[in-house]
Amino acid sequence: MPAILPILVIALTNLVAAFLFLYGLRRMSSPVTAPSGIFVAGIGMVAAIAVSFLYGFTASAATQPYLMTNMALAVVALLLGGGAAWWSGRKVAMTDMPQMVALYNGMGGGAAGAIAAVELFGGRTTGVTEIIVTLVGALIGAISLSGSLIAWAKLQGVINKPWRIASQQILNGVVMALTIAAGAYLAVVLVTGPSPFIPTTVLIIVFFALALAFGVLMTLPIGGADMPVVISIYNAFTGLAVGLEGFVLQNPALMIAGMVVGAAGLLLTMLMAKAMNRSIANVVFTNFGDAAPTQAQGDIKGSLKPTEASDAAIFMRYASKVIIIPGYGLAVAQGQQKLFDFVKLLQANGVSVKFAIHPVAGRMPGQMDVLLAEAGVPYDMIFQLDDINEDFASTDVALVIGANDVVNPAARTDKSSPIFGMPILNADQAKQVYVVKRGTGKGYAGIVNTLFYGDNCEMVYGDAEDVLVKMIEAVRGLGKAAA
Ligand code: TAP
Repeated sequence: MPAILPILVIALTNLVAAFLFLYGLRRMSSPVTAPSGIFVAGIGMVAAIAVSFLYGFTASAATQPYLMTNMALAVVALLLGGGAAWWSGRKVAMTDMPQMVALYNGMGGGAAGAIAAVELFGGRTTGVTEIIVTLVGALIGAISLSGSLIAWAKLQGVINKPWRIASQQILNGVVMALTIAAGAYLAVVLVTGPSPFIPTTVLIIVFFALALAFGVLMTLPIGGADMPVVISIYNAFTGLAVGLEGFVLQNPALMIAGMVVGAAGLLLTMLMAKAMNRSIANVVFTNFGDAAPTQAQGDIKGSLKPTEASDAAIFMRYASKVIIIPGYGLAVAQGQQKLFDFVKLLQANGVSVKFAIHPVAGRMPGQMDVLLAEAGVPYDMIFQLDDINEDFASTDVALVIGANDVVNPAARTDKSSPIFGMPILNADQAKQVYVVKRGTGKGYAGIVNTLFYGDNCEMVYGDAEDVLVKMIEAVRGLGKAAA
């Protein structure tokens, strides 16, 4: 086959794949169209991978002898990687999703770094621009790989404590400076010829080792609870690295996919930081939640008022408007199905029920939306913060289930609170509030929630799923309409 035909097919397929990525991403912006968006982007990815085998037809005479071996290795890698991803993707629990994203993200950064390594060790990168782009991509990809792996280890509980030493920032600064210096010297060597002091291969290894070490050092001191934001930052890094390596390989699908992922990661990071009213620097350089000031018990007016699940359920059964605020604890309890069963019972009895979602409820963006979608909750029952916050004042019951920080009125009133300024769901404005949680455990920010002490608030203690089972029994026990 003449080389022009495979090149044409590769170029056209890459273009189509890039379009499918963009179109898929567009569809992912709504929960209604997201599943098809993921499917469309997946088709684009499969097409881009499949067509890359056509590069075999364009191989030079020098590389022909290795062609079959390389193709076989690529197929084995695809089967191993694809198989592991398929298996783990089907098995992963909802609460373990952030660590899975961290792993995949690390793999993306690693892939970008690996492309750069192949180009650098093979001495294929020539031209000042290509060399700089390759090195910048390698730097960002390597940081993203090692940083994401540390993020995974923290979320998975493999590393339990933030690892901090005195003068951590200075050490990080020195390692970063050394990495940039090694990269700059490597660029000079690649442009002007070998160094008399150090073999180029060793220099490349030192550069990668420093970049990987920086990713580790940068991530180790950050508290585990901030990992979702950190992963999002690394997501932006990975996208950028992939885009840069796409430029080196002159592959438009890689370039576009990388830039889209990079931009999405950056926007997501900014959105998460905004929804927590924190700057990105605050996430990366402070130890949020570790030493959060907690109000002394005496400072809090009111008391915690426990109530039975059955009493709360019956009260809701006779209410006309109920808003449910799910949080991280619902995901922990995997109580979403029982929650929807309870909601259907209320609806069958004429109660109007809505779900209110805070942008950072749970531990990763969209976690609550996915959780509710998993249980089959219709999208038109789910409202985001800005669209529902005014409704609370005219609502009979706010049912807070496994959520804490996202309904803490201290964010509005207490200037000393670490969450001051964070937009919250106005659950406290409902006529009656029920909070379902296991005990007196604090939320992610580690602070007391003044909502729980309000006159209009009662606590239903227990695991969210167990409580919901009791609530369902109580309403069914009334013997009226059943869903
Ligand atoms: P949290 O404030 O973390 O509160 C979760 C609550 O669930 C806790 O009070 C806990 O109390 C309760 N809980 C845990 N397991 C439970 C179970 N099995 N059954 C019933 N309750 C259970 O959660 P939230 O309100 O969803 O807020 C999210 C927090 O995470 C915010 O501060 C946000 O800034 C932060 N964050 C979010 C993200 C994203 S993107 N979502 C990223 C980084 C940080 P008990 O222990 O007493 O049960």
